[in-house]
Amino acid sequence: MADKSTTLSIFTADVGGLVGHVSSHPEVVDNARERLSSAKGKGVISDYHVLRCGDDLELLLTHENGTDDREIHQLVWNTFVSCREIAQELKLYAWSRGLLEEFAGNLRGLGPGVAELEFTERSSEPVVIFFANKTSTGAWNLPLYRIFADPFNTAGLISDPAMLDGFTFTVHDIKENREISLKTPEEMHLLLALAGSTCRYIITSVSRNTGGETAAVISSQKYDIIGGKPGAKCEPALIVRCQSGFPAVGEVMEAFSLPHLVSGWMRGSHAGPLMPVPFYEANPTRFDGPPRVISAGFQITDGHLIGPHDMFDDPSFDEARKTANKVTDYMRRHGPFQPHRLSEAEMEYSSMPIVFDRIKNRFRKL
Ligand code: 13P
Repeated sequence: MADKSTTLSIFTADVGGLVGHVSSHPEVVDNARERLSSAKGKGVISDYHVLRCGDDLELLLTHENGTDDREIHQLVWNTFVSCREIAQELKLYAWSRGLLEEFAGNLRGLGPGVAELEFTERSSEPVVIFFANKTSTGAWNLPLYRIFADPFNTAGLISDPAMLDGFTFTVHDIKENREISLKTPEEMHLLLALAGSTCRYIITSVSRNTGGETAAVISSQKYDIIGGKPGAKCEPALIVRCQSGFPAVGEVMEAFSLPHLVSGWMRGSHAGPLMPVPFYEANPTRFDGPPRVISAGFQITDGHLIGPHDMFDDPSFDEARKTANKVTDYMRRHGPFQPHRLSEAEMEYSSMPIVFDRIKNRFRKL
């Protein structure tokens, strides 16, 4: 394909869990496939794929409309709403929490996670997509740093002439609603100073210093609080383009060999290890966890999604899973104590403030 651009759009939403917050119902997943198949038949989209991670439904679309396109977002909204109707009939758990209000042209802010990337296909376009469950957007900070700025993870940063100049990270300050761009390797320390605060500073995209092409983008919706109660929440997703001036597929995967601690897990208010699993093991049951990440690899060819390859279905991740289970045991023994339970700042996004509120008048001044 000449210079025509392709847009890869991925969307995540929790339209109801089977059982509780563990998994999704096959009828819901099949319904999403039917809807998107019909849209592909009508030429609205070039291709699609449907996955699920825990109780989150994941829609992957390719099309030629660019990012934030009304028609594409409308299609996805209608698909999620029809999935929610099935979930409601089946009384799947928390079916009403994933989608907020009426659609008005764009999905952002309505609950679903949205990550979109428009690019001109290279002669070969390998892309790896990550979906997580029982965590939040800051979960990608550590792996993104390792993939794009750490030569101990990514050999190509020192051996691929196309990567020697490094990458620029865009970091969103979700507290002040502002963003900053930091260039590595020069500003690596500043980047780490921010990105280590995973509940406030979120790496939202990464681009090449040479040429400025975007290499990675995340879905960056956060927890909504409505009337003092937790509202719609979506799980984070991540798109990474690989090879030929971007990190190799194996360098991207290597960053997940450490099941690092992330925020989420039970009631969205505990720290736990992010366990990399194949698609069929993305069913977090122990204490509703531990948090999971799945990875789908595709070649994008003339706008078509060739794949997916189930990237964590590989015994080389067995040790990471074992470590995650050991860390799970260790963390669980802390019960309601920090740092297993999240800090007060992060608990703002849970129902804990309502609990604190009940006893606020019983404190005596010292
Ligand atoms: P989900 O956000 O994945 O539905 O999980 C919420 C929860 O409370 C788990 O204990």
